[in-house]
Amino acid sequence: MIPLTAIVTGASEGLGKSFALELASRKIDLVLVSLSGSGLLELANYIRKNFEVKVTIFEADLTLAESCTSLFALLKSEELTAHILINNAGLGNWSWFEDKNIGFYKKQIELNVIAPVLLTHLFLAQLDEDRTAYLLNVGSLAGRFVVPKKQVYGATKSFINYFTRCLQLEMESANISISLLSPGGINTKPELLVLNHTLKGIAKATITEPDRVAYEAIHGMFLGKKEIIPGGVNKLMVVLNAILPGFIKDMIIKSKLKPEVKL
Ligand SMILES: NC(=O)c1ccc[n+]([C@@H]2O[C@H](COP(=O)([O-])OP(=O)(O)OC[C@H]3O[C@@H](n4cnc5c(N)ncnc54)[C@H](OP(=O)(O)O)[C@@H]3O)[C@@H](O)[C@H]2O)c1
Repeated sequence: MIPLTAIVTGASEGLGKSFALELASRKIDLVLVSLSGSGLLELANYIRKNFEVKVTIFEADLTLAESCTSLFALLKSEELTAHILINNAGLGNWSWFEDKNIGFYKKQIELNVIAPVLLTHLFLAQLDEDRTAYLLNVGSLAGRFVVPKKQVYGATKSFINYFTRCLQLEMESANISISLLSPGGINTKPELLVLNHTLKGIAKATITEPDRVAYEAIHGMFLGKKEIIPGGVNKLMVVLNAILPGFIKDMIIKSKLKPEVKL
């Protein structure tokens, strides 16, 4: 049987890079997508040398709708069918709403919401129905909890949560397994490492490492898990979030924000 081929968006660094390495270690061919000049070529060469899988790179800005169509046009021209799509590319922030300009939020919505919808649509249209396909959408616990300073980001991830849950129901009888990954904080880059290092107690215990998250996500995806929440503390937080009354959750959040509240 021909090997599986996986598309990983946002593959040049962070969690996407860990996904690429995890999939390559399972002998899955790759189509890696990221902005141009982001080191994708070096990563592709490293993977080709060390894992003996086929790697195609596609450098493009996924906030542009035509990038999504061009990606699938490229696959078609190379007679490649993707069996796995990992919608990973995402833009986060940790800032008061008025401190970022509207261009930032527009880009965040285009990358976190519009691109995954377009890519999923194009991915489903080219599937070979005889072969099981896999879709993994990268959400966030920020999409489950109300977190000030993550107002637009959290809303984009709530969208991913809802979108994925609906697709799971709509496509229950199709030959595709659809999973939602809902991680807490991940040490994906130096700024986050520094920020996460300052955390204490439960907040610190929610932080995970990208390679571990990628392993759990790919493992869960192949098992057909509907939702993958890496880390025991994060799973507990989701349970608490479901049972605690809203006013108690609001009190906890406000008490954490108090010293920073702007008047
Ligand atoms: N890190 C966390 O704490 C955390 C927690 C929960 C969920 N998540 C989610 O996990 C996913 C990965 O996060 P991460 O922390 O690994 O992110 P990251 O380190 O910032 O990496 C993002 C990736 O997306 C690419 N990218 C950015 N803008 C793009 C665009 N316009 N078009 C194409 N590619 C673009 C980046 O390419 P360049 O290298 O060229 O910029 C990079 O490869 C995101 O969906 C994020 O929301 C992250």
